[in-house]
Amino acid sequence: MQKRILTILCLLLIACCVLAQQTPQHTADAIDRKVDALLAKMTLDEKIGQLNQYTSDRLATGPLTENSSKFQDIKDGKLGSMLNVKGAKETRMVQELAMQSRLKIPLLFGLDVIHGYRVTFPVPLAEAASWDMQAIQTSARVAGKEAAAAGLHWTFAPMVDITRDPRWGRVMEGAGEDPYLASLIAGARVKGFQGNGLGSLDAIMACAKHFAAYGAAIGGRDYNTADISDRTLWETYLPPFKAALDAGAATFMNGFNELNGIPATGNSYLQKDILKGKWNYKGFVVSDWGSIGEMVQHGYARNSKQAAELAITAGSDMDMESHAYINNMAQLVKENKVPIALIDDAVKRILQKKFEMGLFDDPYRFSNEEREKKELNSPENRAAAREVAKKSIVLLKNDKQLLPLSKNLKTIAVIGPLAKSNIDMMGFWSVKWDDDHLVSLYEGLENKVGKNTRLLYAQGCDVTDTSKSNFAQAVATAMQADVVILAIGEHYDMTGEAKSRANIHLPGVQEDLVKAIKATGKPVVVLTMSGRPMIFNWTADNADAILQTWWLGSEAGNAIADVLFGDYNPAGKLPISFPRSEGQIPVYYNYKSTGRPSANDMGINYRSGYNDIQNSPRYAFGYGLSYTQFALTDLKLDRTTLTANDKLNVSCTLKNTGNYAGEEVVQLYLRDEFASVTRPVKELKGFEKIYLKAGESKTINFVIDKETLSFYDQKMNWATEPGTFQLMIGNSSDHILLKSKFELVK
Ligand code: BGC
Repeated sequence: MQKRILTILCLLLIACCVLAQQTPQHTADAIDRKVDALLAKMTLDEKIGQLNQYTSDRLATGPLTENSSKFQDIKDGKLGSMLNVKGAKETRMVQELAMQSRLKIPLLFGLDVIHGYRVTFPVPLAEAASWDMQAIQTSARVAGKEAAAAGLHWTFAPMVDITRDPRWGRVMEGAGEDPYLASLIAGARVKGFQGNGLGSLDAIMACAKHFAAYGAAIGGRDYNTADISDRTLWETYLPPFKAALDAGAATFMNGFNELNGIPATGNSYLQKDILKGKWNYKGFVVSDWGSIGEMVQHGYARNSKQAAELAITAGSDMDMESHAYINNMAQLVKENKVPIALIDDAVKRILQKKFEMGLFDDPYRFSNEEREKKELNSPENRAAAREVAKKSIVLLKNDKQLLPLSKNLKTIAVIGPLAKSNIDMMGFWSVKWDDDHLVSLYEGLENKVGKNTRLLYAQGCDVTDTSKSNFAQAVATAMQADVVILAIGEHYDMTGEAKSRANIHLPGVQEDLVKAIKATGKPVVVLTMSGRPMIFNWTADNADAILQTWWLGSEAGNAIADVLFGDYNPAGKLPISFPRSEGQIPVYYNYKSTGRPSANDMGINYRSGYNDIQNSPRYAFGYGLSYTQFALTDLKLDRTTLTANDKLNVSCTLKNTGNYAGEEVVQLYLRDEFASVTRPVKELKGFEKIYLKAGESKTINFVIDKETLSFYDQKMNWATEPGTFQLMIGNSSDHILLKSKFELVK
C-alpha cells in the first residue's frame, strides 16, 4: 500500500516538474519581485544593454561566426535582444554567449514571422479576405508553434496598420481599410501567436506595429509623413492597436513615419500619453529598424545622442539597430538629461517579458532541435495552410456560372507568367528555405485533374515583360483547350516593404495577354495573384470569371485547384477597395458625405465627384461572390427607439437558394444620420460568416448597443448622441439588401 502511495506521489512530482517545464508558473507579483531584485544588481551599462537590439549578420553575410564584435557585446551584457537569428541550433549558440555575461540575462530572439514560419500562409491581406477569425488565428497559431520550436521568442507581427492606399507596398501586410474588421483580425492574430500565453513552450510574443499611423503615408510612399487629424487617428488608425493590446499583445513597435510633425519614435503623445498612459500598457515598445537614428534625417534630432534622449523620453524602450542607446545613454544619464528612473522602467518592462517567457528558468527552453524537427513543415501545418488559403480566395466574377470547372474537361490550357511560378506564391514577408516546397498553380492542377484531362501550358509573357513575342504560342495553346486558366499579377517582391508603386495596373503587357486569349473565343478564367489591389478594368469587363487569389503561400496551387473545381466554394470578401484608377486613391467605403453628394456617382451638375470616372471603386470593400446564391429576407428589429442603456436586437434570414453548399458573410452597416460631428456614410458594425447547404436557411442575429452607437464627439469623448440611424444589411458594402431605421433617444 505504502509503496503504491509512494509511486503515486513520485508520478505526481514528475507530472508537476513536466508541467513546470511546459508553463512556468510565475505570478505577476513574483515576477515583479524578481525583476526588482535583478535590477538592483545591474550596473548602468548592463541596464542600457537590455535596451539594445542588434540584427544578426546571418541574413546579410551568411552563417554566424564567433568573431563578430556583436558576440563580444553579448558576453559583455551589452545586448538585450537579437533579431534575424533563427533555428534551435543557432539560437542556442547565441544564447550560450549571453550565459557568459556577468548576470547571465537571457537574450530575446525576434524575427518577422509575418505569415508563417516554415510553412508559408497567405499574406495577411489575403487572410483578411477570409473574414474568418478562427482561420486567421489558426494561421498565427501554426506560425507561432513553428517559430517557438525553432528557438524564437518573438515575432514582429501583427502589423495592424490601416491603409486606404494600395500604392503603399505594405498594404499586403495588414488587414485592409476598415477599423472594425482589422481590430478583430488584430486580436485573432495576437491570440494565435501567443497561444495559451507567454510561458507556454509553443507561444511567442506578438508585436503590434507600427505605432502609429504608418499606413497613412502620404502618396502611399513607404516611410512617408502621416498628416492626419486627431479624429482620423482615433477613429481609423488606433482601434486595431487597442484591440491588439486588449488581446494581450506583449510588445509594440513604433514606426518610421512622422505623425503631424513628430516622428512616431520620438512621439510622447503616442507612446506615453496614449499607449502607456490612457491604455495602461505594461509591455515594452521596440523602435523600428534604425528609426531612432532616423530622427536626425527627419530633422527632429540634431544627432544620434539627442535622438536617443528624445526616443527614451517619449517611451521607446528598446533600440532596434540604431546603436543610439548603447552609444549615448550612459552619457545622457550622467548629464542628467535622462533620469535613471526612465531607464529602470524600460529595463523592467523588458526583463518582465523574459521572466514571463520562462527564460530565466531555462534560457534554452525554446532551442530544442528534436521539437523543431517534429513541428516544422508537418503535414498538419501544411493542411492548415491549405485551408486558410482556400478561404482567402475572392470570386470577383463568374459569368454564366463558368466556375466551378468540371473535372471531366478534356483539355485545359494553363497560361500566364504565374502559372508555373512557385516562388511568387510565397509573398514578400516569408522566411526563405532552400528546400521549400511551394505548390504552383500548375502543380496544384496536376494534383487535382484525372488521367483523362490534358493540361497544356504556355507562359505568354513574364510579369513585367514589354514584349508580346510569345503571345502567338499562348494563343495557339488556348485554341486547343476547352477552357483557359490565365494566371497573372505581381511577382512576390513587387508589394512589400519599400515596394510602393505609383502605377498599380497589371504590370507589363499582361492585360494585352488577357485580350489576346479572350479573342480566341475560349472561356477564360483569370486568376489575379498579388499582394495589393491591382487595377485591371478591361479584364474585369471581359474575362468570363475572375478569382483574386493573392499570394497564398506553400499550398497555393492546391488551394486554387480546390476552388476552381468546386471542392471548396469560395467565400472570401475584399477587405479593401479595388480602385478603377490610381487617380481615385484614397478610395474607401466609409467616407463622409459632402454638402453635394454625387447621387449618380459622377461629378456633374456641381456635385462632388470626378467628371471622367465614377467615384466608386471597381470592387468595393466587402465584395465577393459564391458559386451558390443567397437570399436575405425578414429583417426584424425588436424596437425602433432605444435609449443608450437598451439593446436593439436585429435579425434576418439567410437562405441558400442556389445549387451548392457554401458560406456567405452577412454584413451589418450603420449610418448615424446627424451628429455633432459628421459621420461616415456607412460603418461596418458587425458580420457573420454562415455555412448553408443548398436550400437551407438560418436566422442571423445582431445586437446593437451603446458601444456600437458611440463615437468621438466634438470634444473627442467616446459617447452617444440621440438621433436616427440607418441600418443596412448586405453581402458587400455596395450591395445592401435590407434597410431600416431606428432612433436613439435620451
Ligand atoms: C520593418 C519592421 C520590421 C523590422 C525588422 C523594418 O524595416 O519596418 O516592420 O519588423 O524591419 O525586420
